Amino acid sequence: MAAQKQAQTRREISARKTGGVRSAPSQSLGKPAEKKQEQKKPTTEQAPYIKTDEINHYIHRISRVLAAGYPVHVTGRAGAGKTALAMEAARDRGRPVTLITGNHEMNNEDLLGGITGVTSTKLVDNFIRQVYKKEVNIKEDWTPGRLVEACEKGHTVIYDEFSRSTAETNNLFLSILEEGLVPLYGTKQKKRYVKVHPEFRILFTSNPEEYAGVFEKQDALMDRLVTMEVHYTQKTMETIVQKRAEVRHKDAKMIWSLLRKIKDATKAENGFVSLRSALMITSVAKKANIALEPDNKDFAEICTDILSGELVRFGGAPDFQQAAAAVRKGLKEVQGE
Ligand SMILES: Nc1ncnc2c1ncn2[C@@H]1O[C@H](COP(=O)(O)OP(=O)(O)OP(=O)(O)O)[C@@H](O)[C@H]1O
Ligand SMILES: [Mg+2]
Repeated sequence: MAAQKQAQTRREISARKTGGVRSAPSQSLGKPAEKKQEQKKPTTEQAPYIKTDEINHYIHRISRVLAAGYPVHVTGRAGAGKTALAMEAARDRGRPVTLITGNHEMNNEDLLGGITGVTSTKLVDNFIRQVYKKEVNIKEDWTPGRLVEACEKGHTVIYDEFSRSTAETNNLFLSILEEGLVPLYGTKQKKRYVKVHPEFRILFTSNPEEYAGVFEKQDALMDRLVTMEVHYTQKTMETIVQKRAEVRHKDAKMIWSLLRKIKDATKAENGFVSLRSALMITSVAKKANIALEPDNKDFAEICTDILSGELVRFGGAPDFQQAAAAVRKGLKEVQGE
């Protein structure tokens, strides 16, 4: 019995040891938490991207412009599929892809890099006893930003929601697009610019409602982009929902009909009828094993949970209670279809 216990303890120790060895490499990096984050891919990359003839044609049109060296600006209403399309067109080029997301706080340092530390070198010369010479050199270390690297190495950049960044920040792109140079303003570098690689390409995305306020300021940039609007047909939207969520065509059709009916009845803005909401409803229902039936109580609850906030956001209802009532009414209407 004692021998058995000893053997068991030995097994436990050896198991602990093995575990320790396995986790050692990540510990030696010193940043296990960061490593974990790196491994987590964005949702758009995990989920399958569905291609229909229409989507392939969009990709073809975008690729044709990019191939000639021009930047493409993909626009369209909220949840129209702009970012996913830009990502797919970018991946299609077969070059590394860099994603930058615009925001009002983004500045040149975020894009061009910054000073991340200092290196100091000290030389003490005391070779002749009576003469003491000391030389100290302090050099600031600059880490190039993602944009510099992408331009230098010829990546395909997606500058998502670029109109959320300030016009000052976006001015940087004028030089990249016009001169083929990345100016290194404010980086305190001896070299004043970095040359853009011939394979570098850039896709911008924005939402028309969002750039309404800043459009004028960004005219100079807009002039240099080929703007294409994403507006999929109903057939494509149904196919995306059907294939991505793996539901019946009939179910995908019912969800779109529900969204449209609620939008028409409440006069919500167009953005209410979005791929994102349609996919959320199907995914949540599928994950919870709930039938996609408008008269199913749980399904109705999922729809109200997902759509009420959106309805308020897009101006279709003044508060959540009225939004929920509009969703329930919509569900009743699609029941008979
Ligand atoms: N062809 C597709 N196949 C599968 N999923 C898609 C496809 N197109 C879009 N989606 C999904 O639909 C949702 C909305 O798409 P996306 O994020 O590209 O829209 P958007 O127009 O960029 O929205 P926003 O205006 O909010 O930025 C995302 O979850 C995306 O992954
Ligand atoms: Mg987007």
